[in-house]
Amino acid sequence: MILMFYYPLIQRELNLSTPSIAKSIQTDILVIGSGIAGLSIALKMAKTQTITILAKGSLNEGSTNYAQGGIAGVLDPFDSVAAHIEDTQNAGAGLCDPKAVAIVASHATETIQELIELGVPFSKESDKDSAFHLTQEGGHSHRRVIHAADHTGQTVLETLIARVKEHPNITLLPNHMTIDLVRNKKRNRCIGAYALNQEENSICAISSLYTVLATGGASKAYLYTSNPDTSTGDGIAMAWRAGCKVGNMEFNQFHPTCLFHPKDRSFLISEAVRGEGGILRLPDGKAFMHQYDERADLAPRDIVARAIDQEMKKHGIDCVYLDISHKPVNFIQKHFPTIYQRCLQVGIDITKEQIPVVPAAHYTCGGVVTDLEGKTSLDGLYAIGETAYTGLHGANRLASNSLAEGLVFAKMAHKSIAQALANDHIENEYVRPWDTTGITDPKEKVLVSHDWDELRRVMWDYVGIVRTNTRLQRAKQRVKNLHKEVHEYYRQHSLHRDLLELRNLVQVAELMIISAQKRKESRGLHYNLDYPHLHKKPKATILKPKPRKLQSM
Ligand code: FAD
Ligand code: SIN
Repeated sequence: MILMFYYPLIQRELNLSTPSIAKSIQTDILVIGSGIAGLSIALKMAKTQTITILAKGSLNEGSTNYAQGGIAGVLDPFDSVAAHIEDTQNAGAGLCDPKAVAIVASHATETIQELIELGVPFSKESDKDSAFHLTQEGGHSHRRVIHAADHTGQTVLETLIARVKEHPNITLLPNHMTIDLVRNKKRNRCIGAYALNQEENSICAISSLYTVLATGGASKAYLYTSNPDTSTGDGIAMAWRAGCKVGNMEFNQFHPTCLFHPKDRSFLISEAVRGEGGILRLPDGKAFMHQYDERADLAPRDIVARAIDQEMKKHGIDCVYLDISHKPVNFIQKHFPTIYQRCLQVGIDITKEQIPVVPAAHYTCGGVVTDLEGKTSLDGLYAIGETAYTGLHGANRLASNSLAEGLVFAKMAHKSIAQALANDHIENEYVRPWDTTGITDPKEKVLVSHDWDELRRVMWDYVGIVRTNTRLQRAKQRVKNLHKEVHEYYRQHSLHRDLLELRNLVQVAELMIISAQKRKESRGLHYNLDYPHLHKKPKATILKPKPRKLQSM
């Protein structure tokens, strides 16, 4: 079910001929991305506007589809918004924006309620009980994670896709990969985008009143990741090229427990397994997390991932083990049906055996800088979901806060756009057709596939869980060369998805490295052996593109 690639295999058959120019499209709202964030805002906006949704693959291809643990929200009468805020800030290691945290913690519950009203079948306490089962995850002081067994994302997405498909105001364009945003330079406004229609091999020019980036994260920058193929940071790279600020790109979260198996590297083993009693052990069966944090196996992710990394290095082992086998068989099968089946397929019966696990890149805490309404620094452009940097996660995301953030900021951005449409008279602007002059067809694909491979190895080896100044400097040099190479190739050759994704990924990798070099301390997910201490007054790392590099119409 989940897509994990040890090597960045180019899976798609490439159409290497030059794309033709497709028809122009006009829409009120252009939503780029069909995950939880994109579909949520589309459904809200469609009550009054025409919406076009682009997805670069099928509609369900994105991280949302693979979310396991669930959605954080205050649903237990003994829990409180104040406790959710405190847990989020503790996990964020002093770098969360308190306003963003307060917005998400206080609106998560109502957005979960909206999903229930749309028909999402979340897990109940029991067949006879109408109360929802809440699970526990690392860093949470209460049970507050609503879920659909261990396939929450897939279940939510199925409901959202069914609702958007039946909406007359929504046009769905799967297999449309956005290449770049279009900016009216004089007005510093986003007026649409160009997209590669991969079915017809043509490029369409799309004119929109408002554009919403909901393109997910960038964890494919790393060799080992829990993420699907879509997570190539396209939204972040496109926004950067259009002149937007990006923030906190040094904080890429590594999930502590991904399956370690030659046949299935990095399938996620949900944190909810530890929430329901799973214990991390060394090969000799010894538990070790209590030596690192008083919350032991339920410490926040940065702490657990670093502890595993340290134990693996100390003992020279390839993985550690997660053990839930002490729980009753029917409990495991009911709560974790996907994980149970997936492990069984590779010969591990988790009701009897320990699961071999390692950390892998999982979540991009930084992204396109937005305000508390989802607005970016470019007029007409919003960013929501994993692609955005709202300030919620600080230096490390609290488990299950991501789906909540996508839902809440879809709501905030909807309100903001609806208000702007009511106040201002905005018209669609002309977006000129894509220019293919001077473009030739590439003769071979090895150049692109080699660069993919190299980039992800460099990021894994030098910009991983533990960093040093030397490693970062080396990574910077290598990625700079790759960036130049890919940019030249892009300018001369016809476009296809792997090339466009690589172009975005090298851009985002560069932003991650620059941000990591700027942070001269160790905090949350950024750990640099040359600066092991905490700064007294930490700041977010905000980068702004140089004006001369900006593209425009
Ligand atoms: P995504 O769901 O990633 O969707 C991105 C969309 O953008 C896709 O439709 C894609 O096709 C489209 N797209 C991207 N680039 C382009 C382009 N150039 N042109 C057109 N379309 C484009 N979080 C939680 O809160 N709880 C969990 O339990 C949880 N479990 C997780 C388990 C796994 C295995 C993974 C990988 C993540 C998990 N997360 C979890 C994180 C969470 O799933 C994601 O952060 C969240 O789903 C992101 O939603 P999104 O809508 O921002 O992006
Ligand atoms: C998990 O189920 O462990 C993933 C939860 C998350 O990423 O928030």
